Amino acid sequence: VDETYIMVKPDGVQRGLVGEIISRFEKKGFKLTALKLFQCPKELAEEHYKDLKAKPFFPGLIDYITSGPVVCMAWEGVGVVASARKLIGSTNPLNAEPGTIRGDLAVQTGRLGPSYYPDRNVVHGSDSPENGKREIGGTAYALCLVM
Ligand code: GTP
Ligand code: MG
Repeated sequence: VDETYIMVKPDGVQRGLVGEIISRFEKKGFKLTALKLFQCPKELAEEHYKDLKAKPFFPGLIDYITSGPVVCMAWEGVGVVASARKLIGSTNPLNAEPGTIRGDLAVQTGRLGPSYYPDRNVVHGSDSPENGKREIGGTAYALCLVM
């Protein structure tokens, strides 16, 4: 069975969107197999986003992901990786379609304060089945401890 790693990012946790996000995956029929509230250490955030290490926004991304607790989850289901990406929507909330998590819930402007930028996009989802396995076994190693 396919498995994906979903993580509610610090802005999603701070804004009280955890229940709403879980609900969308539940309603779609996917199975929640692990969940943990977790303060991500810097080294682990860097490992998680290692493919983006060369990008100019990388330091800001790591600061963002480590700025507060995240909710780490593993979800199971047929085709769950691609389906979750559809539910989540485009990376930049400005481009995310209404009906998607980012399209409906990610803040698009500075309305909530200067720390909110388009890259604060509420939630992460694995981009391939291989990365789903890597992230559940690696980045979210803390999850494994409670399973
Ligand atoms: P994740 O689910 O978080 O992995 O997002 P994604 O797969 O939709 O996008 P990607 O993996 O390419 O980028 C990871 C994260 O880096 C994004 O979710 C954003 O928070 C941030 N990011 C990506 N591209 C940009 C960019 O061009 N500028 C800035 N400032 N941040 C970016
Ligand atoms: Mg990604």
